[in-house]
Amino acid sequence: SDATLKSAFKNKFYIGTAMSLPQIHETEVRSVEIIKKQFSSIVAENCMKSMFLQPQEEKFFFDDADKFVAFGEKNKMFIIGHTLIWHSQLPKWFFTDKDGKDVSAEILKQRMKNHITTVVSRYKGRVKGWDVVNEAIMEDGSYRKSKFYEILGEEFIPLAFQYAQEADPNAELYYNDYNEWYSGKVQTVSKMVQNLKSRGIRIDGVGMQTHVGLDTPTLDEYEKAIAAYAANGVKVNVTEMEISALPSPWGTSANVSDTVEYQAKMNPYTKGLPENVKTAWENRYLDFFRLFLKHQDKIRRVTLWGTTDAQSWKNDFPVKGRTDYPLLFDRNDQTKPVVEKIIQLTKEK
Ligand code: G3I
Repeated sequence: SDATLKSAFKNKFYIGTAMSLPQIHETEVRSVEIIKKQFSSIVAENCMKSMFLQPQEEKFFFDDADKFVAFGEKNKMFIIGHTLIWHSQLPKWFFTDKDGKDVSAEILKQRMKNHITTVVSRYKGRVKGWDVVNEAIMEDGSYRKSKFYEILGEEFIPLAFQYAQEADPNAELYYNDYNEWYSGKVQTVSKMVQNLKSRGIRIDGVGMQTHVGLDTPTLDEYEKAIAAYAANGVKVNVTEMEISALPSPWGTSANVSDTVEYQAKMNPYTKGLPENVKTAWENRYLDFFRLFLKHQDKIRRVTLWGTTDAQSWKNDFPVKGRTDYPLLFDRNDQTKPVVEKIIQLTKEK
């Protein structure tokens, strides 16, 4: 049919994708055409992370992010900012003073505030939602022992939301995490959301990254997590979805390594997916989208972590050079058959 993902999901939730640098610069012409045609929301895969936006203290670099936001506006998309406070892809200077020692709580607060205020104000009213804090809670429900946590304790999270709210009172603000279906994580994130709300600090949504495989998580545990997050009175955002078709490195006896045997085991489909795996992969996407449609009252957005297989970070994780098939468009920028099947789901009653 002529339907696109964007048109099919129009009255349901935003359907988004993450843009790489060559896409933001529109040098990858064909995948950019797909993005314009198929998606109603965009997020930058890398260029709005702190190490790129503020590589040196007070030396901001906005060229790429400006282009990204202009692209989204031109194409009338719901623009997402990713991500303000994250322990990773963060410039080295952020936690240290001139002597290389950890900064005090006061200085770290100032640096957080300055980063958040500068970035969020620049795109005020244009970036519609921010991943304010990314990946701060572990699967067992404990706080990640990042420098943010070590220096400021749990309070670094409410502070980040407060600074973001002050900089753009109308932007939606989210907490975003992976392995988001683990019950310990669900519980602590839910507590954190309730704590923010009880203190009058704005939080609009929880981001479920949804980097999933063929078997993990089960649909049931994932559905429970959607319900649990939404029960806190916030929206659920599916923020970074892809379904890897490759064997998971976790739970195999082999350690992540670069031995020839390990590489072969972890990269079995370099010449294309066998039919049975392709079918399992398609069905897995359809199961997830059925679930999203069932819970569309709770879901604000479903964003894929990239457009074509060639672009996916999964090809380099956890070992470089894997050939994965996790996204909805293939390496030759062709639409996979699953797209039409996903569109059909929106027409079922
Ligand atoms: O920019 C350099 C480039 O100059 C250099 O030539 C090249 C050589 O490898 O590396 C480039 O940096 C890479 C960067 O992506 C930009 O392409 C880094 O090596 C690479 O590690 C980095 O990976 C990104 C990763 O976050 C970093 O943690 C992935 O593209 C990006 O998809 C991934 O996204 C994260 C989300 O932000 C948060 N949730 C998990 C998700 C997947 O890991």
